[in-house]
Amino acid sequence: MPKYDLPGPKSAELLEMSDRYEGGATSRQQPFVWDHAEGARVWDVDGNEYIDWTSGVLVTNVGHCHPHHVEAIQRQVGRLLCPYDFPTPERVTLARRLVEITPPNLDACFMITTGSEATEAAMRMAKRYTGRHEIISFYGGFHGRTGMAMAAAGKQGTKYHYGPVLTGHVQSPFAYCYRCPFGLTPDVCDFKCLRFLDTVVETQTTGDIAAVITEPYQGGAGFIFPPEGWLSELEAWCHEHDVLFILDEVQSSFGRTGRMFYAEHEELRPNFMPLGKGIGSGIPTACLMTEQRIMEVFDRGEASSTTGGNPVSCAAAHAVLDIFERENLVENSARMGEYMKGRLKELEARSNYVGEVRGRGLVMGIEFVEDSETREPSREITWRVVEACAREGLCCGVVGFYGNVIRVAPPLVIDRDLAEQSCDIMESVVLGLD
Ligand SMILES: Cc1ncc(COP(=O)(O)O)c(C=O)c1O
Repeated sequence: MPKYDLPGPKSAELLEMSDRYEGGATSRQQPFVWDHAEGARVWDVDGNEYIDWTSGVLVTNVGHCHPHHVEAIQRQVGRLLCPYDFPTPERVTLARRLVEITPPNLDACFMITTGSEATEAAMRMAKRYTGRHEIISFYGGFHGRTGMAMAAAGKQGTKYHYGPVLTGHVQSPFAYCYRCPFGLTPDVCDFKCLRFLDTVVETQTTGDIAAVITEPYQGGAGFIFPPEGWLSELEAWCHEHDVLFILDEVQSSFGRTGRMFYAEHEELRPNFMPLGKGIGSGIPTACLMTEQRIMEVFDRGEASSTTGGNPVSCAAAHAVLDIFERENLVENSARMGEYMKGRLKELEARSNYVGEVRGRGLVMGIEFVEDSETREPSREITWRVVEACAREGLCCGVVGFYGNVIRVAPPLVIDRDLAEQSCDIMESVVLGLD
């Protein structure tokens, strides 16, 4: 017997109301309605409890409703909400703190509200600074849902029927090694997908390339991690070709991969690093880290946004940084990630339906297939697992280029006990599939 019969009565009523009044264009989720959450646990409106493998969508890195975070937000709400572009102590000191912890070449911080705005701003500034107009991005890439971000997307679903998309955007294959577009394996490929960039430039561009944009690992496409060294070579390629390098860390930052920023794994020095999600840990906040020499080409007023850098967002981000400093969350992310990946890799070896488990720190993907020999993607099995997990008290969601990857991204405060219980649930559900 499953632990919960879902949806419970209160969830059922609200889900019906959602269908009736919300239009149904948000993504499909497990059948319950969130009520409140704490640390790495969530309760639905019927009182059922779940271990959280979502962190919202890789947002609540410091844990749901961390007392220091909540207190900082509450304090700021009573003081000042929005002075627009007037500097505030909260904003200016946050900029300094972020400059101090990001790669050393990034010496300027532009505060905004969402990740899409941050990637959009990076591409806009790259064009303005270089005087060139072309942007190279990657198959499977996701950078948000505003105009330029959609044009840089490497998946039809993100820009479905929104054409014609902006001109000047071209895409090149990403290192999806489990399904290599060239049919090679990392031990022999010599990063063929990277070499292909030259072909893309030769065949699809006018030669006026402003920037390359990539996620360090592709989240929406299914937590696809390029092999070690791939990003450094991409950065070197950008330098050789005199184009700017945008490393979209909206999702991969703030401890998610067992380092504060993904760039640290390979000592990368991107010209732009859009940050979002974990920076506010639930309060809408984002920023673009870049270089003063690039910001200097802008006239006063060219880079602004109504709620960007508002004091509540900045107070929330300060609290997030305090918590990282006090609670060794980066280390916990690396340690718990290693444990969970080990458990899930055992599952990969035992189940024919698990094609590949991959990840770093506390962000992993479990890719489901019809059969591990054929590697045929299976949405159907993925959703059977996700729904069964909900009934056993594990909150998780689906992503992937083929819609067949379960996201493993708990808040970074998860402890060994909850990590173990959550892996037990996943294991029993997957091994129970007929
Ligand atoms: C890598 C990446 N870039 C950009 C975005 C867009 O962020 P937002 O939804 O805050 O606009 C996302 C969101 O999922 C993301 O994962």
